[in-house]
Amino acid sequence: MIYITGDTHAFFDQLTNRMEHAGITQGDTAIVCGDFGFTWGRDYDEMHLDAMEQLPYTIAFVDGNHENFDKLYEYPGVDFCGGKAHQVRQNVFHLMRGEVFEIEGHSFFCFGGAYSTDKAGRTPHIEWWPQELPTNEDYKHARASLERIGYKTDYVLTHTIPTSFIHRLGKYPDAHDAELTGYFEWLYRGLDFKKWFAGHFHENRDFGDLVILYDDVVRVGES
Ligand SMILES: [Fe+2]
Repeated sequence: MIYITGDTHAFFDQLTNRMEHAGITQGDTAIVCGDFGFTWGRDYDEMHLDAMEQLPYTIAFVDGNHENFDKLYEYPGVDFCGGKAHQVRQNVFHLMRGEVFEIEGHSFFCFGGAYSTDKAGRTPHIEWWPQELPTNEDYKHARASLERIGYKTDYVLTHTIPTSFIHRLGKYPDAHDAELTGYFEWLYRGLDFKKWFAGHFHENRDFGDLVILYDDVVRVGES
């Protein structure tokens, strides 16, 4: 079974409590929709990652905006469930942008990243990283993957959301984020998918085919 949740921001108990409360068991997969936060290289991050390695389930995440990308991109790139991932620990994987994964017979198109609205108060490469926003290469790679799968996937995993859903949350899209949320808007309208899961907004909202998660956990794979 696959269990999907929102931002964890390096809070180990948040991750494990959410998952265990939702009923995760051995051999299952936990997915975090960005702002995973455990790869900042702080002593307690390493301790938490070591503790994750003792858990009986796999943990996978798309990147958010509050990730240490310098550190994250240093982990070895590996094949994971038919796509490319950074392997953070034996059972912990970063799902790279534009990749498609086949997990328990379900396909997941993944595309992390988002703009940090609090960027001005953060020091680059210490507490903020420019890689938070996708590059042209990321978009190109996504396009190649989407063409390969015929623009059809079971699930989409991202951190932020299409522009129109930002409006539906009663918020205004940030101009710096517009390229990405506009891309997601295009994707939302053109892609054949069952459900789209995202995080970023620190609230739980179910819009039917698009679900924004914070501390809620959605289980997929029952059918
Ligand atoms: Fe967050």
